[in-house]
Amino acid sequence: MNTEQAEKKIAALRKTLHEHNHKYYVESAPEISDFEFDRLLEELAALEKTYPEFDDPNSPTKRVGGDITGKFEKVRHTYPMLSLSNTYSTDEIRAWAERVHKGTDREVTFVCELKYDGVAIGIKYVQGLLVQAVTRGDGETGEDITANVKTIRTVPLKLRGDYPENFEIRGEIFMPLKVFTEMNAARVDAGDEPYMNPRNTASGTLKLQDSAAVAARRLDCMLYGLYGENLPGESHLENVEAAASWGFKVPSAKERYIERCTSVNEIEAFIAHWETERRKLPFEIDGVVIKVDSYAAQKSLGFTAKSPRWATSFKFKAEQVSTQLEKITFQVGRTGAVTPVANLKPVLLAGTTVKRASLHNADQIERLDIREGDSVFVEKGGEIIPKIIGVDFTARKAESKPFSYAENCPECGTALVRQEGEALHYCPNSAGCPPQIKGRIEHFISRKAMNIDGLGAETVDRLFDAGLIKDVAGLYALTAKDLIALERMAEKSAEKLLAGLEASKNVPFERVLFALGIRYVGETVAKKLARSFETVDVLAAATEEELTETDEIGARIAASVRTFFAEEENRNLVAALRDKGLKFAIDADAKRAGSALEGKTLVVSGVFLNMSRDALKAEIEKQGGKVAGGVSSNTDYLVAGDKMGPAKRKKAESLGVKIISEDEFLKLVNEA
Ligand code: IVH
Repeated sequence: MNTEQAEKKIAALRKTLHEHNHKYYVESAPEISDFEFDRLLEELAALEKTYPEFDDPNSPTKRVGGDITGKFEKVRHTYPMLSLSNTYSTDEIRAWAERVHKGTDREVTFVCELKYDGVAIGIKYVQGLLVQAVTRGDGETGEDITANVKTIRTVPLKLRGDYPENFEIRGEIFMPLKVFTEMNAARVDAGDEPYMNPRNTASGTLKLQDSAAVAARRLDCMLYGLYGENLPGESHLENVEAAASWGFKVPSAKERYIERCTSVNEIEAFIAHWETERRKLPFEIDGVVIKVDSYAAQKSLGFTAKSPRWATSFKFKAEQVSTQLEKITFQVGRTGAVTPVANLKPVLLAGTTVKRASLHNADQIERLDIREGDSVFVEKGGEIIPKIIGVDFTARKAESKPFSYAENCPECGTALVRQEGEALHYCPNSAGCPPQIKGRIEHFISRKAMNIDGLGAETVDRLFDAGLIKDVAGLYALTAKDLIALERMAEKSAEKLLAGLEASKNVPFERVLFALGIRYVGETVAKKLARSFETVDVLAAATEEELTETDEIGARIAASVRTFFAEEENRNLVAALRDKGLKFAIDADAKRAGSALEGKTLVVSGVFLNMSRDALKAEIEKQGGKVAGGVSSNTDYLVAGDKMGPAKRKKAESLGVKIISEDEFLKLVNEA
């Protein structure tokens, strides 16, 4: 294939893939198999790799992500992103509609829509191409999360039909319930905490710096509003319908996601329908939005400081039920923190059976004056975990007694302590209290820590209960014989586990430090400490002053690190792990690294002579730099390879970004 043929083939494949993508994700009516789709996508990706000069930021291959954003740039909204006034009753809706009628002399038709519970997004299109996606931010300025939004399959990268030259479309990005439940099930399996609710998870996902990770989370987007100078229609609904013809996923009239209403009675009927039917939706909504349809009428109604007068939302009440509080039990975490849990008579609430609810701490129990045997009100709002909001005192039995909080650890019997100013009680027996020990081991082996293949929470439980391990160092003393003696442990699994343990000896110091589970030392802090102190001995000997001199290490973390190393038991554990061969110093490699590109943002483009693009990117990160997907005013260097696209060069030149060759890059790194 010559270059010209390749260019044609690439264009043809992109067109076909855009079409099939729309058929599959927006219309839910695929015409080719997933296999065939993937094959075409792979073919395109291979061609794009060979011919980087035909790079296109809106190619269907961008859906799989791969851009590392580094930092999200702030962008001022062309049209401010306002919020909506809230109503909670039909009386309030009636009053709002009356104000609307008074505020305009035109005939008013309303449009009712669902209020999607996700993250607002504004997406700009120029000449039919997606150019920028920005979060709401404070309404005036948001963050550019284009690379992440491009991974959402229902957001078209390239439009079809007769679209305006330049416009913005707004909508809501959300995580479908099915994706959320599957993801949480996988997290629980892996011993991770489940996420709270789909909205926060969607929001957190969009802030990830790695768009490939975003792509894996399968977000969705519903688009519901258009902004621009040359929109085809005179009304909201007309334009939403037109947007569907350009390839957008908009609310479906057939499913009653959107409906034109001419009276408050019709609005009420729409609300009543969704108040019950919302449980059957594949995503969460928290209400209904009512808008005035005609743009002319919208204009004459105008805005208050925060929200348009031509729209309002009706918020669904969080669902509530009452049930019996059977017993209050206590849960002990890996740090020794004790949390009270309400064990409820199982009750159906918002589509799921609720058996337990957190009571948070002793103060909360006192505040609610809650007692075992009480009839309590349970609510499920935006959160997946239900809340106890109060007690039905009228139903309290005469013989009921105030609840007395545990004085001893329910697991090991040690007297609990509660420090001044702390909300939680703690079990101080960290060395002997089973859930604390197991919790620490589970943290140690978790994916972001030692990531030990073949070992999960359940096996840890069994190993501990069988007396085979007493702490994390014990893991490294396990033998195949020990393991096979365990019930339900096959030879293969035992081998895998031992290999996983062996492999973990190569885990870098910063992750070993994180794995130790020192309070307040999360992944990022561990990285900082490892880089600054280089070995565990230096870290263990550091004073609080020395610790706080480190970037981003405050007094609370410093004190916690000191406390940890002050305990003989912890020092012994570190020594034992070091004996087993774990890394307690940063690699010579990492020592050399970390400074040359500290704080710098680089963009890599084209093909390179001495190293692959991925290796180059990895080197940048190793040197403390950040790799960004596109050139912007934040870019420090554009590393230009062979066949770099002319657009990138032009942009770099216009922004005054320094363009360096591969050789110059290597010099920069090696001479530092
Ligand atoms: S219209 C000027 N329509 O609700 C108002 N918003 O409180 C423009 N939302 O930030 C918003 N579903 O994130 C509109 N069908 C819908 C919506 C919707 C959810 C969110 C949106 C906005 C917030 C307003």
